[in-house]
Amino acid sequence: MNLPNLLEAKKRSSKQVLIKTNEYIITENLKKIGAGKKYFVKTYGCQMNEHDTENIKAILEDMSFMEADIMEDADIILLNTCAIRENAHNKVFGMVGRIKHLKQTKPDLIVGICGCMAQEEHIVEEILQKYRWLDVVFGTHNIHELPRILNESLNKQKIEIDVQSIEGDVIENIPVKRESKYKAWVNIMYGCDKFCTYCIVPYTRGKQRSRTPEFILNEVNELVSRGYKEVTLLGQNVNAYGKDLNIDYGMADLLKDVAETKIERVRFVTSHPWDFTDEMIDTIAKYKNIMPYIHLPLQSGSSDILKKMGRRYTKEKYLELFNKIKTKIPNCAITTDIIVGFPNETDADFNETLDVVNQCKFDSAFTFIFSPRVGTPAAKMEDGISIETKEIRLQELNKLINKYSKEANDKYLGKIVPVLIEGYSEKDKDMLMGYTDTMKLVNVSGNKTMLGQIVDIKITDVKTWSMDGEII
Ligand code: SAH
Ligand code: SF4
Ligand code: F3S
Repeated sequence: MNLPNLLEAKKRSSKQVLIKTNEYIITENLKKIGAGKKYFVKTYGCQMNEHDTENIKAILEDMSFMEADIMEDADIILLNTCAIRENAHNKVFGMVGRIKHLKQTKPDLIVGICGCMAQEEHIVEEILQKYRWLDVVFGTHNIHELPRILNESLNKQKIEIDVQSIEGDVIENIPVKRESKYKAWVNIMYGCDKFCTYCIVPYTRGKQRSRTPEFILNEVNELVSRGYKEVTLLGQNVNAYGKDLNIDYGMADLLKDVAETKIERVRFVTSHPWDFTDEMIDTIAKYKNIMPYIHLPLQSGSSDILKKMGRRYTKEKYLELFNKIKTKIPNCAITTDIIVGFPNETDADFNETLDVVNQCKFDSAFTFIFSPRVGTPAAKMEDGISIETKEIRLQELNKLINKYSKEANDKYLGKIVPVLIEGYSEKDKDMLMGYTDTMKLVNVSGNKTMLGQIVDIKITDVKTWSMDGEII
């Protein structure tokens, strides 16, 4: 049993990270474990987790498991969890409750928890106290060991917990089963060293480890040769890419090189305003295949709160960067994340946030009420602000955000925009859906030959969160 340890997770060692190309191994024996059985993986949280699930699925298929369409048909269920806010945590334990009923009717069902919650010491303690009937728990640092961990779990009656608190090396040979045939996630770095005071990610994902440009570019080139149209470069802080490698090569260089592969669309998430260089902005402006869309989390418009959050920029610096991007990259859509109700956020602080929203008129935003995370500095800060006040602020903020989203979308009415058609519309299965270069969701009627194509679409109707269009 390897249990997570919060103190260990907080540490940052200066040990050189190695690049390992044969760390994922699966013996002939383990390859047959899942024969005739089905798996179901439910994913919570960010794109990083979605991409981890693509790895987990491929590993399970290496073990001969097949994907089940619904959870009820599965012989093994894994919940790939997120720890970012309390409601993510509640959703997972709600689901665990549902699965317990399933397990009562199906005693051989294997149920596991992985992902960011599994990295949390207090969550694993809770699992040991209340959910001992679960079969397996593993973390974000040892996904490549899933065959061995699962095998150990199958061979014993008790819960198998195998979580590493300290991140390992960069492992380059984990297989992947991609959700889409047209767009792909490409990790460029793991972990985060920013330690924003509210955030759990530096503890659940470990220290920053960049992949080398060679491995990233090989992956993108392979995707191009297989007909992929879009890649999204993934990292908690993509702008800090390369800083941990001993080479003179950063995010702007990587963006250039990825754009030169001739992939039709390049995206990246997430950009921290702190490391956003002019060179990056110039590169995005220069290459037509780097999409004019940037997710630029603000978190708060109050410089005081930003300081307490450890974000290392002020309101003025954020606005300066925002305006520079808007000036240099024509037609660039900018979205953001905002937290309301950080400990002791005053009305004046909150009004500063509204002021930035009024100035920036974001294309859209994810907004959250501050959620204290065990082990983070902000969770220990005194907070005299009531939850009612926080909820009222969130509503007021959302109203403003939605107003500007609709206004930004209204500008598209009657325009012709390029859309990568990637699937069927959720609300109407006869309609297709895709995203514009600026990441606007468009529903359009068409036929399936359009799937995977970048098509010119005329926007005919505009809503707050989506648009309707027609082929021209
Ligand atoms: N690496 C990204 C953020 C990833 S987490 C960045 O630095 O921008 C996604 C979003 O969740 C954050 O931008 C933040 O707005 C929100 N978030 C993170 N921790 C939170 C917490 N403790 N309470 C509420 N929201 C939080
Ligand atoms: Fe969390 Fe800050 Fe790192 Fe983003 S940059 S993952 S908010 S610690
Ligand atoms: Fe959640 Fe972990 Fe992503 S905490 S937001 S799944 S990095």
